Amino acid sequence: MTAGDDSGFPPLEPGQHLVLQDSVRVQRPAADVWAFVRDMENYPLWFAGIVKMASADALPPATVGKRYDEEAIAPGGKEERIVVEIVVADEARRHLAIKASLEPFRPRFDYRVIALSPTESVFHWRSVSTGTSLKATLTRPVFRTILRGRLAKSLDNFRRILGGSDAEVMTAAMFWRFGAARDALRLYDRAARPKAGKGQILVRQRASSINHIDCHRRGGYGRNAMRVRGALNFPVVLGNDIAGEVVAVGGGVTRFRPGDAVVAVKAPSSDGAFAKYVAVAAANAVPKPDGLAWDAAAALPYAFYTALSALSGDGGLTRDNARAKRVFVQGGAGGVGAMAIQIARHLGAEVIASCGPGQKPLVEAMGVAAVYDYTTDDFAAAVRDVDIAFCTANPNEEAKLVSILKTGADARYVTVIHPTLGLTDEFGLLKGVLAAKRQLKAKNRDLAASGRKMAWTIFKADAAAVALFDEMLKADALRPIIDSRFDFADIVAAQERLESGKATGKVVVTFK
Ligand SMILES: NC(=O)c1ccc[n+]([C@@H]2O[C@H](COP(=O)([O-])OP(=O)(O)OC[C@H]3O[C@@H](n4cnc5c(N)ncnc54)[C@H](OP(=O)(O)O)[C@@H]3O)[C@@H](O)[C@H]2O)c1
Repeated sequence: MTAGDDSGFPPLEPGQHLVLQDSVRVQRPAADVWAFVRDMENYPLWFAGIVKMASADALPPATVGKRYDEEAIAPGGKEERIVVEIVVADEARRHLAIKASLEPFRPRFDYRVIALSPTESVFHWRSVSTGTSLKATLTRPVFRTILRGRLAKSLDNFRRILGGSDAEVMTAAMFWRFGAARDALRLYDRAARPKAGKGQILVRQRASSINHIDCHRRGGYGRNAMRVRGALNFPVVLGNDIAGEVVAVGGGVTRFRPGDAVVAVKAPSSDGAFAKYVAVAAANAVPKPDGLAWDAAAALPYAFYTALSALSGDGGLTRDNARAKRVFVQGGAGGVGAMAIQIARHLGAEVIASCGPGQKPLVEAMGVAAVYDYTTDDFAAAVRDVDIAFCTANPNEEAKLVSILKTGADARYVTVIHPTLGLTDEFGLLKGVLAAKRQLKAKNRDLAASGRKMAWTIFKADAAAVALFDEMLKADALRPIIDSRFDFADIVAAQERLESGKATGKVVVTFK
């Protein structure tokens, strides 16, 4: 699109330079699009293209006519503070302009929403620079290059939310900025439906479940690591647990057909399971047995694979050695803990567990040899010589958990609660990972004399893990503990339930 077209922008004034201009057509009435444009809470990631959220609290709610400080990406990629001012809101002509004091460019961003028909609109976008210094002139191409990338992403996001015909859209829970569920999480009913890529299946969701990582990520936790993994492309759809029907298969997929009921897992991503449709690697899916309800199925995968990564991947538990092993599971009634008990029992190990008050009957029903209430019993005084002590609940019990391990027998303390992601948030990816490795190495040095080891586990789902999940489902050997069920429309309440710390077992969301 070039200046002087049908976008309706005013002609450039003397001293103004057009930096970029583009537009996107969407299948929505102009009033809807305009309402969305005016939602300035979304503004930083959407429109300016250069502006980045500092924090959820940084933005006041409605905003036209207001000024506020923001964090921005300056040309060259450096983060700077800028002042953003919403200067014009022409409701009649659906025109909004934003001025930013980003030196040396002093850009202005203009947006227009024009109705093409009752159901189709066009959203025009223009950036004008008024910087006149030599520096501004010389660096304008750099500015344009940076802006172009961010603009492409913004328009892509715009399409993700407002684009598409009815067959191409879906309801999805998304967040644009870090914050509490109530503030940051939004349900969009026109989000773009994903497509099954090569090796993927597209699943129409029947149920999913909340994991702590979802709530933590929404709060900004793990942002450096997630960004590098491509799991922080705003707007982010969280969720890792998938239970639903296959509606399409991508190239190379022969194991599944449309109509198959599946249970699947997805590593933390930007296009996760809290959406009516989700694309997932077929390799990470297994058939759902007929007798397994959707909500039960959705409560299993992420917790199962995490528990297995800890017990087998890092704890060394195998089908061959399990009968000779004793495993202690801290937090046996939790999502991960309940899976750990059932996996270890299925493989043949003896299991002892701890749990919260009132949870003993639930844990006993999973076939443990003994169970301790962490509020009244001291497991460390009673338990000795375990091969694996698995921490899933409270890392402050690390010393007690290590103390119950065998000595001199390659016994292992494994934990899924460790500082790795927190360190990458604090120090950046490389330094954070190195700091985590140093800390773990130091702990293992201290343990070396006793022949014990320590491992920090991160969720993983490989082919062997998927095969065991399939095997255990077929054998009806996996039963989740379900705390509560919420309609997907109430996903904010569902996340708040998990965050309240009052849930026993999994919080499930179901889709109509
Ligand atoms: N590293 C990874 O890749 C990874 C993956 C998944 C999960 N995780 C982490 O693993 C942890 C567990 O996840 P989850 O889904 O199982 O959580 P969850 O469902 O909330 O389970 C925690 C359980 O631990 C119990 N508990 C609390 N303190 C305890 C203690 N001192 N001793 C024994 N039990 C105790 C709780 O009981 P009460 O409610 O009665 O206190 C609750 O039943 C979370 O911190 C999560 O972030 C890590």
